[in-house]
Amino acid sequence: MDKKKVILDCDPGHDDAFAIMLAVQHLDVLGITTIGGNSPLANVTRNALVVLEMIDAADKIGVYPGHSCPMVVPLVTAPNFHGESGLDGPVVEEPVHKAQKKHAVDFIVDTVMSTDDVTLIATGPLTNIASAINREPRIVERVKEICIMGGSVTFGNWTSASEFNIFVDPEAAARVFESGVHVKMTGLNLTRQCGFTPETVKRFRFIGTKTAAFAADLTDFFIGSNLRENEPALACMHDACAVAWEIEPSLIKAAPMHIDIELNGKYTRGMTVCDYRHLRGVNPAVDLERDAQMAFRGEEPNAEAALELDYNAYLELVCSTLANYQ
Ligand code: BDR
Ligand code: CA
Repeated sequence: MDKKKVILDCDPGHDDAFAIMLAVQHLDVLGITTIGGNSPLANVTRNALVVLEMIDAADKIGVYPGHSCPMVVPLVTAPNFHGESGLDGPVVEEPVHKAQKKHAVDFIVDTVMSTDDVTLIATGPLTNIASAINREPRIVERVKEICIMGGSVTFGNWTSASEFNIFVDPEAAARVFESGVHVKMTGLNLTRQCGFTPETVKRFRFIGTKTAAFAADLTDFFIGSNLRENEPALACMHDACAVAWEIEPSLIKAAPMHIDIELNGKYTRGMTVCDYRHLRGVNPAVDLERDAQMAFRGEEPNAEAALELDYNAYLELVCSTLANYQ
């Protein structure tokens, strides 16, 4: 079977690194575009090259730098989770490959307009994607879908209401959700189910490949970040879930939903306001099958929200992927 054609827009980032490792092995990655987010643009672009060189893919896949800051507000970064480089932890060589000269937005527009059935996967703030839609609105009809890591059906992480990627550029997120494109949202309610533990780190080390050792170092550092932030000893590699959903849809149960982005709330700016009244319960994962038949009460769904992860199958996918690299 032909691999799905994707562009991965990301801000590596420990979990973005996992997203890249999964995507390159299982999908047809037409290019990687970078966006200022976890760390400034220069850092995340360098980090994308680091990961591609680690898996010997830097000759085949170009890295296209995009916007360095959000549409209307200054950039907020996350050194508390990802370190000053955006990819602290593993000791790596500086990459020898260089980023492409073409801007990420031009790459996205040109590729989508010239190639059928491209899926966009976005694991950082949505600035590049929103700019691409503004530049060439026809890409909304051309892309197969946009699968994002961002938002939450329940609570946030950067604030009580909002998740980091949406919080950084809510105006861009609103543009994407309102555009009419089919959005698949892999939010925190889902990615909090994917945590790796110190036991997982041991399992990665046992695989014995250079890439698995890199993954173990990334996970180790990320668990440490969580502990420093008074969170559990768990590394949720959020972004990898969005890619996993594209690789193997059966890993995730989802439901259609109308999702709006809050732009004005004093306490809720950047919140993904999810209308799941048709799912009835406080926990939308409850009785998914029963509730699938319920009529929508609010606006028509503009998105599909991920709700339940098959954790064991997901972990197997990650481990086998790491084992298949050198
Ligand atoms: C998201 O924010 C970033 O720090 C991660 O890379 C992920 O994309 C999780 O909220
Ligand atoms: Ca990210």
